[in-house]
Amino acid sequence: PRVAIVFGGRSSEHAVSCSTAASVLRSIDRDKYDVVPVGIARDGHWVLVADDPEPLRLLPGRTPEVDGAGASVVVPLSTGDRSLTVLEPGEPPRALGDVDVVFPLLHGPFGEDGTIQGLLDLADVRYVGSGVTASAVMMDKAMMKVVFEAAGLKVGPYVVITDRDWRRDPEAALSRVDPLGWPVFVKPARAGSSMGISKVDDASGLRAAVEAAREHDPKVVVEAAVVGREIECGVLDGHDTDGPRTSELGEAVVVSGHAFYDFEAKYLADGDVRLDCPADVPAEVADRIREMSVLAFEAAGCEGLARVDFFYTPSGDVVINEINTMPGFTPHSMYPRMWAASGLAYPDLIDELISLALE
Ligand code: DAL
Ligand code: MG
Repeated sequence: PRVAIVFGGRSSEHAVSCSTAASVLRSIDRDKYDVVPVGIARDGHWVLVADDPEPLRLLPGRTPEVDGAGASVVVPLSTGDRSLTVLEPGEPPRALGDVDVVFPLLHGPFGEDGTIQGLLDLADVRYVGSGVTASAVMMDKAMMKVVFEAAGLKVGPYVVITDRDWRRDPEAALSRVDPLGWPVFVKPARAGSSMGISKVDDASGLRAAVEAAREHDPKVVVEAAVVGREIECGVLDGHDTDGPRTSELGEAVVVSGHAFYDFEAKYLADGDVRLDCPADVPAEVADRIREMSVLAFEAAGCEGLARVDFFYTPSGDVVINEINTMPGFTPHSMYPRMWAASGLAYPDLIDELISLALE
């Protein structure tokens, strides 16, 4: 099959997406798949890029980026029978051929949020991962909590500050945060990789943190800090009517130098974070986390894949933090690592995801 690897995008996680694509391009089974690498530049241009992982790697001091200037243009809506035709610009455009399936390796808004999923649905093109609704709802940290609570999953205390709340009366919005206690985490509702997130220790830092989060999204979620270990679980859809599968659990342990598992710790500071997999938790707790992961995946209507993140508290509680419908596949990422620990090596995981989309 011919597969379009789509990455980059109009999101603050552009560079993370490039890094994810680099890993996938390196590992995808070339005997089985004909790969068309398509980058989305920060300005939204779709471009055909070189099939070379090297310049896409995210390294300390180097932020990879899709260069939209003067590049080939992809026309995504020119489709045949469940396929996507890739065209080069110019008069007349030269078709590069039909694509059987799209792997949208996009993180954050304009990609992980239902937008490209909607575009591909319109064009009747198959793609890896969740559809419009699950992608959109799970992109939004306020909406996802509503779904989790409705499914009976425990979430931590939180407050939502909408754009209207803030523009109408910032003082009133800030005062609603007080009952959460301190510290709190201030987050853009729709972002990822800890972009725009601050840990705030007292009321004096709150306004600046809300403003920093609003740089990413005018809707802000303030969460009470949950004391606990950060445990993650990989979910992979089942074939046909089989239920979703869950992986060995992973734990991200911030070893030094970071107030929390922030962007630097996630992607740049080798050695400051330890990713333990399998996580050292009692079997009963691991089972509970796996059950909660499937419950969350199904409540949200996810498809294909998701990484579900939890806090495991000292008193033995398991609190759900979030779902990522297109988790990172970078060399630092937990999702592929958890599946490798579960017996599914990286290239086989990619193969499995594409097979599920082609079903
Ligand atoms: N948002 C990043 C890519 C992740 O969840 O892995
Ligand atoms: Mg996330």
